[in-house]
Amino acid sequence: MIKVLSVFGTRPEGIKMAPVVRELNKYPEFFQAKVAVTAQHREMLDQVLDLFGIKPDYDLNLMRHGQTLYDITSGALLGLKEILEQEKPDLVLVHGDTTTTFVAALAAFYQQVKVGHVEAGLRTGNKYAPFPEEMNRKMAGSLADYHFAPTKTAKENLLRENVPANSIVVTGNTVIDALFHTVGKPYQFSGYLADRVNWSKRILLVTCHRRENWGEPMKGIFQAVKEIKVRRPDMEVIFPVHKNPLVRKLAHDILGEIPGIHLIEPLDYHPFAHLMAKSYLVLTDSGGMQEEAPSLGKPVLVLRDTTERPEAMEAGTVKLVGTDREKILHETLRLIDDSQYYRNMAHAVNPYGDGKAAGRIVRFIMRLFDIDHGNEENYRYE
Ligand code: UD1
Ligand code: UDP
Repeated sequence: MIKVLSVFGTRPEGIKMAPVVRELNKYPEFFQAKVAVTAQHREMLDQVLDLFGIKPDYDLNLMRHGQTLYDITSGALLGLKEILEQEKPDLVLVHGDTTTTFVAALAAFYQQVKVGHVEAGLRTGNKYAPFPEEMNRKMAGSLADYHFAPTKTAKENLLRENVPANSIVVTGNTVIDALFHTVGKPYQFSGYLADRVNWSKRILLVTCHRRENWGEPMKGIFQAVKEIKVRRPDMEVIFPVHKNPLVRKLAHDILGEIPGIHLIEPLDYHPFAHLMAKSYLVLTDSGGMQEEAPSLGKPVLVLRDTTERPEAMEAGTVKLVGTDREKILHETLRLIDDSQYYRNMAHAVNPYGDGKAAGRIVRFIMRLFDIDHGNEENYRYE
């Protein structure tokens, strides 16, 4: 029996690890699948756990309002030490690039437990963008023994860092597994969204939370959103505002109380996936949404100067627009007004996966532990 401990802490890690946890649970004869959450996020993580029916074996309940990187790093490291000592897993799985990711990989390394990194190999090459995620994923990658790269580009990034080729497998991104699973289940909007949003108008979906955008860049973004609504009153703006208090204050200061701009609480993933599908256009600095929106055929303007996800840009459905008010305004109005330009961007592509990534990850783990000797084709996405 192989004991696999999956560790995660934030909303996106929860969404992207849920398919892996569910897949491990399909094979109780091989795996003892345990889950530890740091709860670096609380409400935003809990809705994901509920949606996917995951009951963590351990919950460090770390989140504090206005927490610093030091708080999460030290709290998670000490909390995970005890869990690892108690469970002694054969393998720890971490996901992506949050502080939980890096710390969980470090905690496992300190006890010489093998680490598998899901969504490995994303890079911008800029230490401070995204901050602190670029270093989190590099450090997690250095500590990891096995690398589940979502795309070929991610694998090439790892090879350039001299990661051994036989420790890397291209699997597709598990976010597509989660998205297909969720968007495939019908959802009827109720409450505020059903009553207050004018669905006959085109929907501009906005999200924004990145640390390197805090302050002036975010101000520029929100001013651009306000100006878009002034210039194109026939658009309806929906902005589920991240729980971070800094983000909320600025969003409410600049965009609060404007008719047709709906500042709402973060949505559960099920309604959110359906909202993405109903949107005309997405403005975001989110990583995950750059992966999801293309497969729904929605153009994405990325509110950042760099991206570790070049594949959708190359496919033409995602464009980097940065944080400058005028640039965001210009690019958004162009997509609203120029239907040919819109059509060129709004085509469904799946550069990030086919919805079968979790199966490939688990198959690779089976092979590692000599559970399965199936042929290579079954667990590679290349
Ligand atoms: C974190 C990750 C970031 C990821 C993002 C996804 C780090 C350093 N950052 O950033 O990589 O893209 O999550 O959303 O790992 N809060 C709540 N309830 C919640 C969640 C957050 O109230 O459910 C508030 C708390 O006041 C908390 C603050 O948001 O202190 C910031 O949370 P934190 O996890 O530190 O940073 P994020 O900006 O969410
Ligand atoms: N998301 C959600 N509800 C929301 C906003 C986003 O469920 O109100 C989902 C979104 O579909 C994606 C993930 O949360 O899967 C992205 O999370 P976030 O933008 O917080 O983090 P990032 O992807 O930038 O790390």
